[in-house]
Amino acid sequence: MSWWLWVLLFGIISLVVSWWKDRKVSRFVNVKTGERLKARSLFYGVYSILARLFWYRCSIKDFWLQTQQGDPPIFIKWAGFRPVVVVTTEESLLEVLLHRVTDKRDFKPTPFADKVLGHSLIAATDQNGGRKLRRVLNPAFKNAKLSSIIPVFADSAQIVLNKWDESFQNDGGVVDITAYAKKLTFEVIGKAGFGFDFQNLTSEDNPERKAIETTLGTLFHPIEWILGNRIFSLIWAEKDRKRKVALATTRKLISEVIVQRKKMREAENYSTEHEYDLLDHILEADTANELTQEELIQNVYLFFIAGYDTSSSVLQSLMYMITTKHECRNKLIKEIDEELQGNRPDVESLSRLTYLDAMMKEVMRLFPPFFGLLTRVANHDMILDGYTIPKGTSLYPNLLPIHLSEKIWGPDALEFIPERWIGPEASKHTLYSFAIGPRVCLGKRFAFLEIKTIVCMLLQKYTWRLTPGWTWVNDLNALSTQPASPLTVILEPRKKNV
Ligand code: HEM
Repeated sequence: MSWWLWVLLFGIISLVVSWWKDRKVSRFVNVKTGERLKARSLFYGVYSILARLFWYRCSIKDFWLQTQQGDPPIFIKWAGFRPVVVVTTEESLLEVLLHRVTDKRDFKPTPFADKVLGHSLIAATDQNGGRKLRRVLNPAFKNAKLSSIIPVFADSAQIVLNKWDESFQNDGGVVDITAYAKKLTFEVIGKAGFGFDFQNLTSEDNPERKAIETTLGTLFHPIEWILGNRIFSLIWAEKDRKRKVALATTRKLISEVIVQRKKMREAENYSTEHEYDLLDHILEADTANELTQEELIQNVYLFFIAGYDTSSSVLQSLMYMITTKHECRNKLIKEIDEELQGNRPDVESLSRLTYLDAMMKEVMRLFPPFFGLLTRVANHDMILDGYTIPKGTSLYPNLLPIHLSEKIWGPDALEFIPERWIGPEASKHTLYSFAIGPRVCLGKRFAFLEIKTIVCMLLQKYTWRLTPGWTWVNDLNALSTQPASPLTVILEPRKKNV
């Protein structure tokens, strides 16, 4: 084809795309001015964001300053050829999450992800079983129930401490916090979720752990999303085969644990011989046997997906802040020492550790594990920020502009100041990292108790300083907030004899 034909073809395609895009955007107009909602360019809009995620590595603060700060309060970005509306103000976020626009997420699982999560809470809406699932699962996450799980958190932290003692004696105590945080939170979900010990902290090659990791690792494969499942399984036949085997293995494992547990629960002296976990609490709450075996299996899977990467993200950010903010660290150590007097924490003592609570909240404000992944679908025509939003539109509230807004937090919005979460000031602030409203994170209390217990256990024995030259560079390639290179620290025992 000669060059002018190429130019002509390109011109025609551009005109068609521009006409089509104009048609799509024309449904989103300002009710007062008639102005259309701003839309990122279709051609490079989505792809520039993806490129940024793949290539752009920086601190969260810089990411915000350089890439997101200039965004308008509400705008359209493209998910393929689909317009999605991003909202960045607190008012619109509340409108979307709290005032019941809908409880449906913009969640289109691939066929593989559907087999793992299709019957779990994350995929459910009020109309298709979401209410039942939340009603039965919710009681397991109440403080009174979770208090029986705190020893699991403490025992796992103790294994880490034993490893740290060895490391301190053998190689001067240089430890990879990122690896420990991931192993620890995985171990905790296994034990506290359904009483299974993956020996994540003590053995290198546990087959069950590898099977779970293989399943989770390909759950949201971008190529499968873009090109579809058939093409994915043609190109990556071996990978596809392996993940199917891994899924079958882990489903069998979880299913057997559930069947066995149901049998054990029938025994009269059950409660005295077994340490309680989430599965126990769920079966206890499900008095009418409303949950099917499939729903039980998939929700145990969901706990892994929802609670492993997120908690490891917060644990790393908190340990990083403990390392870099010395004044805060000293206040925290004083509080923990005075309250615990060298003992293990329990639910009551944890509730009295107000500075630890404030530090965790401040970490999650500045380093929210997910900030652009909250989604809802509008179930009726509505007005948001003055613009008409047609029914069926996908809405993406972005937390970062709200968590870092000077209007909300004051001129020191970008600074780490835990004190803003203590005293009368605290009641003015809301943390959105777990979302808010009817579909708020189910594991919020679990995560708070888990991370606080672990930090109390570790800080009673060690403090740590950064290895020279290490700074937090955010890995924007990761699903949750994670450092690009492993957070490595040097341990310093608080007492001489380790
Ligand atoms: C620091 C750790 C965590 C963070 C930041 C976090 C954050 C979130 C967020 C943002 C959502 C989506 C809410 C929405 O769409 O409105 C969510 C949902 C959920 N999370 Fe968490 N999460 C954490 C830990 C956990 C843990 C440990 C568990 C379970 C053991 C868990 C279980 C769930 C479940 C089951 C849902 C779905 C709730 C529903 O659909 O109604 N999360 N979480």
